[in-house]
This record gives sequence, structure tokens and C-alpha cells, in this order.
Amino acid sequence: MELKRLSICLALFVLAYISHCSEARHSLVRRETNDANYDDLQNDEGADDEAQNDGEGNDEEEVAVVAKIVTQSALYNVTIGRTVRLECKVSPANGVVVQWTRNNTNYFIGTQKSYEQDLSSYSAGDRFSIAANSTDLLIRDVRPSDSGLYTCEVLQVDPVKIQHNLAILESPRIVKFTATDNGQLLEGSDLLLTCDVTGSPPPKIVWSRDEDNVNKRLQEDDATFVGNTLSIRNVKRSHSGRYYCYVFNGVGTNQAEVNVVVRGRPRVHISRTVVNSAIGVEAILECAVHDDAASHIRWYKDGHRIEDSSRAYSVSTDGQRSNLSVIPRQDDDFGTFTCEAENDQGSHNRSIDLVQSPVLEDLQVDGPKISLTIHSHQPVEVIELQLKGLDGDTEWKTLNVPVPQSSNPHEYQVDYSLENDLTDGGKYEVTVKVKNDKSWSAHTNPAIVDFESRPQPIQHASVYRSSAPSANSTPFFLVTALMYLLVRM
Ligand SMILES: *[C@@H]1O[C@H](CO)[C@@H](O)[C@H](O)[C@H]1NC(C)=O
Ligand SMILES: *[C@@H]1O[C@H](CO)[C@@H](O)[C@H](O)[C@H]1NC(C)=O
Ligand SMILES: *[C@@H]1O[C@H](CO)[C@@H](O)[C@H](O)[C@H]1NC(C)=O
Ligand SMILES: *[C@@H]1O[C@H](CO)[C@@H](O)[C@H](O)[C@H]1NC(C)=O
Ligand SMILES: *[C@@H]1O[C@H](CO)[C@@H](O)[C@H](O)[C@H]1NC(C)=O
Repeated sequence: MELKRLSICLALFVLAYISHCSEARHSLVRRETNDANYDDLQNDEGADDEAQNDGEGNDEEEVAVVAKIVTQSALYNVTIGRTVRLECKVSPANGVVVQWTRNNTNYFIGTQKSYEQDLSSYSAGDRFSIAANSTDLLIRDVRPSDSGLYTCEVLQVDPVKIQHNLAILESPRIVKFTATDNGQLLEGSDLLLTCDVTGSPPPKIVWSRDEDNVNKRLQEDDATFVGNTLSIRNVKRSHSGRYYCYVFNGVGTNQAEVNVVVRGRPRVHISRTVVNSAIGVEAILECAVHDDAASHIRWYKDGHRIEDSSRAYSVSTDGQRSNLSVIPRQDDDFGTFTCEAENDQGSHNRSIDLVQSPVLEDLQVDGPKISLTIHSHQPVEVIELQLKGLDGDTEWKTLNVPVPQSSNPHEYQVDYSLENDLTDGGKYEVTVKVKNDKSWSAHTNPAIVDFESRPQPIQHASVYRSSAPSANSTPFFLVTALMYLLVRM
């Protein structure tokens, strides 16, 4: 505190000296040698003002007058790079010493630059000055670091001051938007996006990604956001895409984008895993590979590599799809065929069984009706349906379904209603297997036939009885019981 006083004192001393030289202000000079402390000096200065103003410009008869600051405190919004003049009009202006401070650092006393300004952490340099013939602070080429509070204070017995708030506005600019490994990632690695941005006030960031050509904002459950970074751990292929960094701060907006490609081992997809054929009938086994990089596709028969030169097969590959054409000459030519795709990340395979037995599609159920498509190049002989009530039955009941005419040489469409076979309402588990002149197929996956879907009054009766055991529910129960008997007959 003492140090500060001393420095202000010294500054005033210097100022006073200069004033003396340029404006011949004798009054201050007269006292300077006697004054040892700031308070005294201030008193003196006040006295000087009075003296000066009283004299109406007459240097010899100064009377103390209290100066006022005419300017109001204000907020200055200034675009970066511009010049700003922070106003501080004082009345009366003659002989008044104004001090500009910024956050307790002295910038100017009168027109004199304070040494504190150079010691301060703000790099004011020579961009700051006092505007000619005024008490206004001029800042050229404003920078974001110039923002803050500036105080203009009249040094006198009763100091008066105003405070301006300088806000430096800068439209957001994206300096750099980067992704881990330039956005080329391997499945399972971590993705880090960094969006370096400048602007004032500090811009906010919104992250988004294009999904199916729709820009979707990324939320907390999609990624982790820390400062100007976004991270996703253990990335999957589905994280591939275009990412955006959108920034805004009320002054302007900006956007940058980066592409991310997550590569992994290929995935082989087979649409039909069991294919029926017959001796002399060509079967086409289809395989599709899902991969971002071009994979190498190979075929195997019962684990043995099928050479491209092999005459028994023909392979047609078009990009990510491959067909293997097989014309079996004997029973041994049937078996398990494997499609394998390989890229620099690894390989993946799926198998297709080429069989002579019938191949069944999934059972379709609609009320008591079931339908089924059978693929068999060999004549179908038996269609065996098995069903079991889910409420208590332990035994499977077997029904023979009539074999329909084949609509084309190797396809049979079965449509059958269980209406006449099911006497009791309830849920039934149903499965079908089919025999052709070679062998039995596997069972279909079980399907559930819900025979209750038609009105079953007895079910309602029991509900009424248990939930409302009052006397007036009895006639209703009797009616429903009667209906049940009628239905059963
Ligand atoms: C200055 O900017 C702030 C937001 O940064 C705004 O609220 C205010 O209205 C602006 N003032 C002027 C005078 O432009
Ligand atoms: C002003 O000074 C105080 C303490 O002296 C400091 O905490 C604060 O950060 C400064 N403000 C600015 C804008 O530098
Ligand atoms: C400042 O005042 C001087 C003399 O009083 C004058 O010559 C000069 O033009 C003034 N400058 C400005 C910028 O008003
Ligand atoms: C298919 O993949 C399995 C498991 O990755 C592997 O054990 C098998 O050898 C592969 N088969 C072929 C024919 O490449
Ligand atoms: C594979 O066979 C299917 C149908 O037989 C055909 O549509 C497709 O174009 C074939 N693909 C290739 C790569 O030969």
C-alpha cells in the first residue's frame, strides 16, 4: 500500500513538473517540494483546482472547484482489430488530472503512461494512448485480451470515477478440426475429434454427424464431450461418417467437417443357408460381403479350398458379391460350402449346405391357418405336421397334410387350416417336416397357433366369477356357461 501511494505520488510529481513546463501551472510546482505524502498532495491539488477555476483562467488567483465526469459508464462492443475510444469527459476540464486504470493496474496519469502498464500482464504496448486534447483512452487494433473493465478517475479531494466495460467481439473461427489418425480408424479403437476455435465471447460448440443423409446432433449417450473435444471409445463401423463442429458466439457462426472411416474385418452374409438341388441341377450359392475395403473372397467345399481353375464349379464375383455355381454329378457333390472374405483386418466366413432333402421356409401362421413353402427338386412324398397343446399336453400329435401340386418344378406351396383338427381352444406349438424321395428335411422352427383368437365365452366366465364373486354375477355366469355348452355341441 505504501509502495502504491509512493508511486502515485511520484507520478503526480512528474506530471506536475511537465504541467509546469508546458502550461506554467505554478501552483503545483510551488508545493511539490514540501509534500511528502499522497493525501496532502491530493488536498493541494483540490486547492489548486479551486484556486484555478475561481480565477477563471487567471493563473494567479486559483480557487478550488470540484470536477465532474460528464460521461456515463458504458459497455463498448468492439470488433477485433478496430480502434476504440473510451470516453471520459470531465467538466470543468482545465487543470484536471485523470487517471485510467484497468483492473487495479495504472495505465495513464494525465497523458503520461504509467510504468505499471508495462509491468502488467496485459500486452498493451503502444496501442494505448490518451486521445489528443482530451481525457479519453484510445486503444488501437483491439485484441480479445483487451476486454475488461477500464476505470477513469479524476484525482482530487473527492475522487470521482466511471467504469467502462470493453467487450471485444470476434466471430468464431475454426483453427483446426482433426480426428484421430486422420479419421482412418480400426474397429475397437478410440476416436477423438478436436475442434480448435477462436472467437470472442468464447464460442460454444455443437457436434453432429450425418446419419443416412440426415444431420443428427450428438448427445451425451453418443459420445463424451470435454472442452473442445469429442471422444467415442471402442468405435464400430456404424461410427463411420461425416462429423461436424459447429461454433457460435452471438457474433457469428462457423462450421467444419471431418470424415471418419472405421474399418474392421469383413462380414459375410448368406441369405439362404440351406439350398436344395438334385443331381444334374445347377445350384447357385450366393454370398455377399460387407466391408469398406475390398476383401478377397474365397469358396470352400467341406473345408477344402475351391480353386478358381476347378472345372466342377464356376465362381462369379462382382465387387462385394460372389456366386458359386455347382452342378452335382453324384451324392458326394452335395455338402457344406463356405464363403470366406479376407481383408487386412482379418477374415470371416459363413456356410451354405447344399442338400437333396427338402428345404422348408419358416411357417406362417394366421389364426388356425398355417402356410409353408417347400423347395425340393425331388418329388415330395410326405408332409408331417406335429402339434402339442401348450396348456398341459405332453404328447405330440401327428397329422399328415395332403401334398399339394408343385407350382413350379421345385416349389410346393402348402396352405392348411387346423380348424377341424383342433377341438379345444388354446395355444398350440406346431412344427412340420417333409420327406422327398431322397430323405426327410429338418423340422421347421416351431410356430405358435393361437386358437383362442375366436370368441371363447368360457374364458370370460371364469374371469367374471373370480373377480366379482357377488350374487348378481351368478345369472351372467349361467348364461355364459350355457353358451359354452352350445359352442361345444
Ligand atoms: C454488446 O454485446 C452484448 C453481448 O455480448 C449485448 O448483450 C449488448 O446488447 C451489446 N451492446 C451493444 C451496445 O451493442
Ligand atoms: C483482475 O485482477 C484480479 C486480481 O487482481 C484477477 O483475479 C482477475 O483475473 C483480473 N481480471 C482480468 C480480466 O485479468
Ligand atoms: C489540440 O489542441 C491544439 C492547441 O490547442 C490544436 O492545435 C490541435 O489542433 C488540437 N488537436 C486536436 C486533435 O483537436
Ligand atoms: C470359418 O471360420 C471359423 C471360425 O472363425 C474357422 O474355425 C473356420 O476354419 C473357417 N472356415 C473356413 C473354411 O475358412
Ligand atoms: C448371383 O446370382 C443372382 C441370382 O441368381 C444374380 O441376380 C446376381 O447378379 C449374381 N451375382 C453375381 C456376382 O454373379
